[in-house]
Amino acid sequence: MGSIMEASLFTRKLETEIGGGVQRLKSQGHTPSLTVIVVGNSPSTMVYFKNMAHKGVELGFYVELRKVDDSVGSAEVLQLIHRLNDSNDVDGILVGLPLPKEYDVESILHAISPDKDVDAFHPFNMGQLMIGKPRFIPATARSIIALLENYGVRIQGKNAVVVGRSTIVGKPVACLLLQRDATVTICHSKTVDLINYTREADILVVSMGRPKAITAEYVKEGAAVIDVGINHIEGKIVGDVDFDGVRPKASLITPVPGGVGVLTTLMLFDNVLKAARLNVERL
Ligand code: GUN
Repeated sequence: MGSIMEASLFTRKLETEIGGGVQRLKSQGHTPSLTVIVVGNSPSTMVYFKNMAHKGVELGFYVELRKVDDSVGSAEVLQLIHRLNDSNDVDGILVGLPLPKEYDVESILHAISPDKDVDAFHPFNMGQLMIGKPRFIPATARSIIALLENYGVRIQGKNAVVVGRSTIVGKPVACLLLQRDATVTICHSKTVDLINYTREADILVVSMGRPKAITAEYVKEGAAVIDVGINHIEGKIVGDVDFDGVRPKASLITPVPGGVGVLTTLMLFDNVLKAARLNVERL
């Protein structure tokens, strides 16, 4: 029976490290800050970012939630981003995703200064990651690697299969695994016979957005299985992995909720801290 990878076991240590970094900057007269732009009126999106802001404040950051009515359009959001880019008081900028569909996501995300891009979605930061010299790393991808490392999973030389090729999770985590000398395969919705790939995975990262799609027959005996899925089914949150079915076969498995998601906000604020240090060096 596989052990459950519990992120909460090492969040305290991470929080202490981040909190300490925040206090050091504060003692130099700079309070690290994040501005979150939330476009539209989706209550669940607002709840998500309010929770994120709450955690940031708890860690000592200054966090500002800028709610923008979804009638304003891309141009006004771009103007706001430019103002924030120019403000010395703002260290990190994040635009809440998903954006309402009439917005041009790429032009908005790419308008954020790469120095303040704490999501690491800007092509410059993506490129740095691609060449193996990451500055900011997307929070979810970092959380996945942190879980593997904290549970002592050997990555070098292992077959790592990533199911899902998104810019936010799949591609960055594949880069990080490759950087750590895994043999990496990226599968996606057009992959033929997915099972033939996943069954060879020593490390299986699943981010496909299909509830419980990965069942026991997809998994190699002894694999470490990381489930990034968040699906809302009948008022409950379930992952992309059939946890109960897969657990007996895996050596390690993340629960949903309680797995990767527990770490992502902390990793995000660690990026804000890094952005603040960069900002202080520039000032
Ligand atoms: N929506 C849910 N999580 C995130 C995140 O980490 N960054 C952004 N920009 N949007 C999100």
